[in-house]
Amino acid sequence: MDNPDFSSDQQGKKAKIAVFVSGGGTNLQALIDAAAAGKMPHADLKLVISSKEGVYALERAKNAGIEAVAVPRKTFDSREAYEKEIIKMLEQEEIDLIVLAGFLSVLSEDFVKRYPERIINIHPSLIPSFCGDGFYGLKVHEEALKYGVKVTGATVHFVNEITDGGKIILQKAVDVEEGDTPETLQKRVMEQAEWVLLPRAVELVAGKLCEG
Ligand code: GRF
Repeated sequence: MDNPDFSSDQQGKKAKIAVFVSGGGTNLQALIDAAAAGKMPHADLKLVISSKEGVYALERAKNAGIEAVAVPRKTFDSREAYEKEIIKMLEQEEIDLIVLAGFLSVLSEDFVKRYPERIINIHPSLIPSFCGDGFYGLKVHEEALKYGVKVTGATVHFVNEITDGGKIILQKAVDVEEGDTPETLQKRVMEQAEWVLLPRAVELVAGKLCEG
């Protein structure tokens, strides 16, 4: 990734992107839809890697004509071997930027350090609230409701060796409403913040990478 060899088409340079997923892939779908709508002119969605087999995110990728592979962690003896396989795929596709979109496998410090400011993640709260180890999925929204915050949201940030601790790229606030459950709040945060923010952040970072 040190010497990015960007894709290009009639519209110009594009950063080659790998999206890492583990589940339903609604954030991946937001990226696919934004690309189709011409909202990410500097992003080339090249590869989707799932940490689990049979997840719907893989179908979404295939339906959009994106190469999609499952690399289940449990089929490797060690995290090192697992990450080596992922790195091989990233190198083969000359990936410039990695997007973690609901990726539930933990990446090692070595892996993260290999790609400084080349890995971004979406987290469903306003960092530094409700983030860090163990804060994923519904737990984030449960804790927000328990605390009684009136505003939550989503954050896109660069990934470094501290969980949810890398530089913030974009944030968007979402109101908590009377009677919210973790599920209703999760849905609103996705619809109003995550699906809007992630394509914007990817285009922002991809555009900067293309400028050099
Ligand atoms: C999202 O809430 C995202 O913020 C978090 O994991 C969830 C993924 O959902 N990191 P999906 O697979 O994109 O639907």
